[in-house]
Amino acid sequence: MEKKPQTVLFLLLVFSFGAAQKSTARRQEEFHVGVILDLGSLVGKVSRTSISLAVEDFYSVHQNHRTKLAIHIRDSMGNEVQAASAAIDLLENYKVQAIIGPQKSSEAAFISKLRSIKQVPIVSFTATSPALTYGSLPYFVRATLNDSVQVNGIVSLIKAYGWREVVLVYDDTEYGRGILPHLINALQQIDAHVPYRSAIPLSATSENIMQELYKLMAMQTRVFIVHMSSTRASLIFTKAKEAGMMDKGFVWIVTDGVANIVDSLSPSVVEAMNGVIGIRFHVPRSQELDTSFLIRWNRMYRQFNPNELPLDKPSIFGLWAYDTVRALSQAAEKVGVSGNKNKRPQSSKSSTSSDLLAVSTNGPELLKEIVQNKFRGLSGNFDLNDRQLPVSALQIINVVGRSWKHIGFWTLKNGLSKQLNQNGMKITGSASMLELNPVNWPGESTEIPKGWEIPASGDKLRVGVPTSAYPEFVRTSKYPVTNATRAVGLSIDIFEEVVKSVPFALSYEYQAFDTIDATSSTSYNDFVHQVFLQRYDIAIGDITIIYNRTPYVDFTIPYTESGVGMIVPVKETVKKNMWIFSKPLSKGMWFGSIMFIMYTAIVVWMLEHLNGNTHLHEEKLKCILSRLVLLVWMFVFLVLASSYTASLASMLTVQQLSPMFTDIHELQKQGGYVGFHRGEHGGVAALVLDVPYIKLFLAKYCKSYTMVGPIYKSAGFAFGDPN
Ligand SMILES: *[C@@H]1O[C@H](CO)[C@@H](O)[C@H](O)[C@H]1NC(C)=O
Ligand SMILES: *[C@@H]1O[C@H](CO)[C@@H](O)[C@H](O)[C@H]1NC(C)=O
Repeated sequence: MEKKPQTVLFLLLVFSFGAAQKSTARRQEEFHVGVILDLGSLVGKVSRTSISLAVEDFYSVHQNHRTKLAIHIRDSMGNEVQAASAAIDLLENYKVQAIIGPQKSSEAAFISKLRSIKQVPIVSFTATSPALTYGSLPYFVRATLNDSVQVNGIVSLIKAYGWREVVLVYDDTEYGRGILPHLINALQQIDAHVPYRSAIPLSATSENIMQELYKLMAMQTRVFIVHMSSTRASLIFTKAKEAGMMDKGFVWIVTDGVANIVDSLSPSVVEAMNGVIGIRFHVPRSQELDTSFLIRWNRMYRQFNPNELPLDKPSIFGLWAYDTVRALSQAAEKVGVSGNKNKRPQSSKSSTSSDLLAVSTNGPELLKEIVQNKFRGLSGNFDLNDRQLPVSALQIINVVGRSWKHIGFWTLKNGLSKQLNQNGMKITGSASMLELNPVNWPGESTEIPKGWEIPASGDKLRVGVPTSAYPEFVRTSKYPVTNATRAVGLSIDIFEEVVKSVPFALSYEYQAFDTIDATSSTSYNDFVHQVFLQRYDIAIGDITIIYNRTPYVDFTIPYTESGVGMIVPVKETVKKNMWIFSKPLSKGMWFGSIMFIMYTAIVVWMLEHLNGNTHLHEEKLKCILSRLVLLVWMFVFLVLASSYTASLASMLTVQQLSPMFTDIHELQKQGGYVGFHRGEHGGVAALVLDVPYIKLFLAKYCKSYTMVGPIYKSAGFAFGDPN
């Protein structure tokens, strides 16, 4: 796996330079230069393309040069050890006289510790960590700007928008940490506070990142500065979008590491980053950066990366890479190849020992030439006299849609401005926000975010409470001294229990809802509507879930039994007195029974008499017909007697209460009045109420009333939240 890309690379290089070399091989001496890049990264791919193109371009113009750069590209795979071993290999086997790269700040720091490399100029156009200083690395040249430069731009931006607190999110690497002291210092100077720093280790998984984001979301601060490599930042923003942190109210600022290559990020990442502001190096429009260059550049990019999506243009890193090669070629031509100076001791067979490596003796001259050479390159003024590029303007961009838009510039001299070269016209300081183009903030908001969220402890939840017709549910009063609303009742108890169980401190205050007629359902509609009107954050009470209230509020799940029932008075059917024995049969029944006895007696007497049985006292019925009549009578009597006994027994033991009506239809038929809630003083035959009210009512008046079904289903009582 490791060998393969290098072989392919070598072949490619042979092909690309072979042709040019042939014609001039006799005159041009090879000047070996090592290149160490992370070829898996976007910046690595772009840089490699630019470096190869630069060599091609330069020597096609300068065919008369004595020297010619021979480029040896090595893949560090983003690993310090790999980068160092590549450096050793390049020094030892190719006797390179300069190294372009390495790509990462940590790699640069690592390589610079190699003793053998002491006098080999290392020119990196990507290692931006301010921790890499001239003092500790005398042969290190930064063909870019250190990260502390953009700190001032970021801080001006934070000051202009008036944000007071900032959370830093950064890679836990040399690069990520390098900016911290500068950033925190600069923030301190404008009185901005850094309540939290979130270091994301390279080993963090998506889940780890998600957890970290939730942690950030729970905080009060809504301004985040992201200083990360583009790969890590892509993951962060995709996850932040998922977590809902790319919504209104959030502010994300990315440093140049990401902002410089926004054009080259994948569309899904750019979409997730919508609303982000970035600060990047401004590339002045230059003549050289014409279409023919872009075509050649893109052709070469495709040649090196056949499986990648084509890019529009090289990012600033690509331009710096191009200019670095140009600077190096010119310096090489001046210094010349010193074949004899770079010899390594003949005896060294154990080539791995870095001590045995030859020291580049023309290093100091080469470094001097690189540093003193000034020219106008593709990236603008290329002047490494300060061991880094001069500070030019920084551009502030805003990621919008699939691309980005220009917000303004920042320069050391003028601070923030919409356009460059407004000589002395602009006012610096607090008014400078007006000097910028409007930003499309996350969540497609155009309102400038406050930068913080009101903490839960500072803002009291406004809890609306009505005056219920049933004080058992909720009753309000005022504390005499403070005039604060006091509320008691079942609904309040339930609410307070819920508040106790939420996992954070929630402070609230009751606000009484006063109406003239607190009991009608229209006033409850009004009450619930106040939540919609944002007078209350929540409405508490015996609020029935009704369909026509749902457009205005979201109901919680009901906290009571649900349903609507009917209360009717009960009638006591029997009055217990000495006449109770007569109660089991009605008057008609008594009368009928007596009539029936008399009738039977007469019939029997007549039948017997007609048959000549004058001696009735013998108590023997001769006629068959009269016996039949008597038999019928006996049967009827038996039934009557047994039912009488049973009725009387039950009357004397079981209480006789029965509802006057058993259902609403019976009531309808009889045309009785129906009442609801309060307000009817007598005169109604039934009350139709929610079951909880019925239970309350019956708890007081269980003797004379009862609940009858059927119970119509309703959703019950709940609290109303804003929807
Ligand atoms: C970083 O750049 C600034 C601005 O040019 C400069 O003042 C500072 O000394 C540099 N720091 C390092 C460590 O190179
Ligand atoms: C309470 O209300 C009464 C009557 O509205 C008012 O006179 C009094 O000043 C109030 N007290 C406080 C502390 O607000």
